[in-house]
Amino acid sequence: MKELIFYKSALEDALEAHQWPSDPDQLYRPIAYILGIGGKRLRPVLTLMTCACFGGDHKKAMPAALAVELFHNFSLIHDDIMDQAPLRRGQVTVHHKWDLNTGILSGDALLILAYQHFESYAPQVFMELAQLFSKTALEVCEGQQYDMDFESRDEVAVTQYLKMIEYKTAVLVGAAMKMGAIVAGAPSDAQQRIYDFGLSLGMAFQLQDDYLDAFGDPETFGKQVGGDIISGKKTYLYLSALAAASVEQRSALLKLYQNQNLEDATKVSQALDLFQATGAPAKIQTAIQDYTMEAFRQLDAIDMDQRHKEQLRDFGTALMDRKV
Ligand code: IPE
Ligand code: IPE
Ligand code: MG
Ligand code: MG
Ligand code: MG
Repeated sequence: MKELIFYKSALEDALEAHQWPSDPDQLYRPIAYILGIGGKRLRPVLTLMTCACFGGDHKKAMPAALAVELFHNFSLIHDDIMDQAPLRRGQVTVHHKWDLNTGILSGDALLILAYQHFESYAPQVFMELAQLFSKTALEVCEGQQYDMDFESRDEVAVTQYLKMIEYKTAVLVGAAMKMGAIVAGAPSDAQQRIYDFGLSLGMAFQLQDDYLDAFGDPETFGKQVGGDIISGKKTYLYLSALAAASVEQRSALLKLYQNQNLEDATKVSQALDLFQATGAPAKIQTAIQDYTMEAFRQLDAIDMDQRHKEQLRDFGTALMDRKV
């Protein structure tokens, strides 16, 4: 998709032009590191693309796009601490490369650096962007807390899981798009609709993330495959497996997740077998498609020219097939 490449490279150029202070090195080097090891840059690309789709100049949306990407990277540094993750984007995570305190503080600094980008907007737009951002950031924290709470529970209702992923992941995708619409000066009903489109895409995105965490290719995925199983995450795969399990499979799955003495590799392979045996991978694929179709229905209702709608639709379709 040529628009995707165009906006991604515009974003990369803006990131590269960013001068990080050199002192204290221990604070800023991890920031340059996490931003420098890649990433798909999906959220900021959506901010830029949405602004252009509503007739705005994508360059005007660059500060908001940078804010979104910096916030996302802050959340990843802290998420990797919370999830005890060793790998991110195929490289060592910040708290493993440095240490826990470095991860906490450089993450905090990154969050503040994200907010600073809104300062380049005129007061009314600044206020709208900052309000949306603060609301979204708080929801992400709430989602992350649910995610942690669920680790120590055997059962989580599917509705609770869906609320958790909506907060930890989908709201930021929705907000990234709405920011583009705000900068373009789109009417408020269109802003809401594009937010809802992003929210549904974000749900599909997190479901796919859960799927890849279990069944992704370790060579290319860039994160520890099976990490969710090792941390006892109550993902859609786990919940679907429990819902479809026979009495024996159910007790095996519960026992497996409660067992603290099993080697990681054994636990992962037994969990994957149970997921397969209960048909969980097919269920998650259906859910991914359903949310993507829901997103497309929301897109159809937006007042936007057909060419731009096609761009956003292609983006959604590409997300469904991603392997990374
Ligand atoms: C990872 O997001 C965190 C989730 C919400 C699943 P991405 O998969 O967009 O991570 P990068 O930025 O491309 O590495
Ligand atoms: C991450 O969810 C959500 C946020 C970072 C806010 P995950 O924990 O599933 O993300 P990955 O898989 O580590 O990228
Ligand atoms: Mg994680
Ligand atoms: Mg997490
Ligand atoms: Mg994940």
